[in-house]
Amino acid sequence: MYGATVEPIEDAQTDDNRLREFEARIARGEKIEPGDWMPDEYRRQLIRMISQHAHSEIVGMLPEGTFITRAPTLRRKLILLAKVQDEGGHGQYLYHAAETLGATREDMLDALLSGRAKYSSIFNYPALSWADMGAIGWLVDGAAILNQTMLAKCSYGPYARAMKRICAEENFHKRQGQDIVITLATGTPEQKVMMQDAINRWWWPTLMMFGPHDTDSPNSAVLIRWGIKTKTNDELRQMFINQTVPELLALGLTIPDPDLRYDEESGNWRIGPINWDEFWQVVKGNGPCNQERMDARRRAHEDGRWVREALAAYAEKQSGT
Ligand code: 3HC
Repeated sequence: MYGATVEPIEDAQTDDNRLREFEARIARGEKIEPGDWMPDEYRRQLIRMISQHAHSEIVGMLPEGTFITRAPTLRRKLILLAKVQDEGGHGQYLYHAAETLGATREDMLDALLSGRAKYSSIFNYPALSWADMGAIGWLVDGAAILNQTMLAKCSYGPYARAMKRICAEENFHKRQGQDIVITLATGTPEQKVMMQDAINRWWWPTLMMFGPHDTDSPNSAVLIRWGIKTKTNDELRQMFINQTVPELLALGLTIPDPDLRYDEESGNWRIGPINWDEFWQVVKGNGPCNQERMDARRRAHEDGRWVREALAAYAEKQSGT
């Protein structure tokens, strides 16, 4: 599927030695770089994860993009515009990081546009009011920050370095979301109702962003073993819940979970069951906005075809071929 080439390994013994040295490097906290030897599975997992992360950034521009023309003030419009532009840039960093592993941009985009590749389930939900911009900024980007702060310690150098740059910008994204939520939650009664409605719609899909429970996460074991992930899906989800619940309650907002309770012994907020049927339906393409998001991406790709062709023609002319 990707153009990675790995020189033939002489014999199984060499292979075992190389794997041992590779794992010793990771145990020492060294970063694996593009030209280093790595198991094929390490490369495959990274291309899968990083390319889907990049797809998520690009598709993630769409829900907020619909409110750039409907921002309540010029200041809010400028802030949202900057945030959406940031997400596009994050996608570029991540596609480049995946390219260092031998993936090609054409293959990755073809995988997205054909529906073969995944992107984060969260972006298949509709943004229905301005309050959603606050819920997305605080909840979705807040969840992304926890995940991406973890990935900034990833054993693969280019991914870890891309995360460091992205996390700095994500913190601005979360702050602007919090500013919107606080403004509406402490505003008029109508504004508070609008904000609570948005929290009610984004809370559970945000918890699903972290992926299935650890017991149902087929990729986690190898990702943890080779230092790509340093925390599990459930660990990050719990961190997010413990961080976010007190903050929302302090604003007089409620969490749409009748089973939510604080467990004194563990210091964790315990939640009710996550609707994994809904999650897998969304991941499989049957969410509220999957078709709309893919149509928008395919349309944008077609609209940009002439630019790609012009650049290719110019490059060919320059190279004299
Ligand atoms: N949406 C869509 N698919 C998901 C998913 C989600 N929320 N959670 C898990 N899946 C998929 C996985 O991709 C995997 O399918 P695959 O093998 O075909 O790729 C399957 O469900 C099983 O899940 P696993 O837990 O075994 O998969 P991972 O170990 O890869 O964990 C992950 C899933 C936590 C999303 C992990 O891949 C990850 O951390 N990825 C990098 C970060 C990322 O992609 N974040 C997405 C949001 S980006 C964002 O929020 C931008 C911000 O600016 C707003």
